[in-house]
Amino acid sequence: MHLLDNNKQWAEDLLKRDPDYFKKLAVEQQPKYLMIGCSDSRVPLSSMFLAEPGEIFIHRNIANQANLSDLNFLSVLEYSVDVLQVKHIIMVGHYRCGGVAAAIEGVHRVLVENWMNPVRLLFKRHSKELEALEDNQHIYDRLSELNAIEQSLNILRSPIMHNAVNRGHYPSVDAWIFDIYTGLFKILDLPITEWKKVGYVHPGYKYHDD
Ligand code: CO
Repeated sequence: MHLLDNNKQWAEDLLKRDPDYFKKLAVEQQPKYLMIGCSDSRVPLSSMFLAEPGEIFIHRNIANQANLSDLNFLSVLEYSVDVLQVKHIIMVGHYRCGGVAAAIEGVHRVLVENWMNPVRLLFKRHSKELEALEDNQHIYDRLSELNAIEQSLNILRSPIMHNAVNRGHYPSVDAWIFDIYTGLFKILDLPITEWKKVGYVHPGYKYHDD
């Protein structure tokens, strides 16, 4: 299979750079970043940042959901914040997300539609803004942005983040959207002050970029 041939080439290239590359890599991981992204094959999170192995801890699922009843996601979040002590959490949405489109159009798959239910509710909450847009693709792309923002809120409002802020040692949270039409990321604004007012975000949370 060509994947395994490529793997041999990849390992050889790294060993040419440093014969001890994998010995060092095996010792431990100290990633600065946790990224949550979509499973979409067009959004390969490590390679788009030219990241080395060990740099980014990654969780992916359909339409980058940070659902607070999802034990898989919560375990990743807890481990990243409490044990790895990552400095930044980045929620990565992307344009032309099939999951987001499926939330609106349906795919006749019970599990996927159930998984996408939070995005369907988000669409309903923002239907006025969204339905004013010119076509479905603009609606889905804007919904992908709103989804990334909403999932960032889920992270910030989680007990894991609140406890970390109480301890005084916590990561900052960002929401980015991958613009698949240009290959570049855009930073999305998070209404942190508003979220603090309603008690979602811990009052002691301050964004830091160190
Ligand atoms: Co997607």
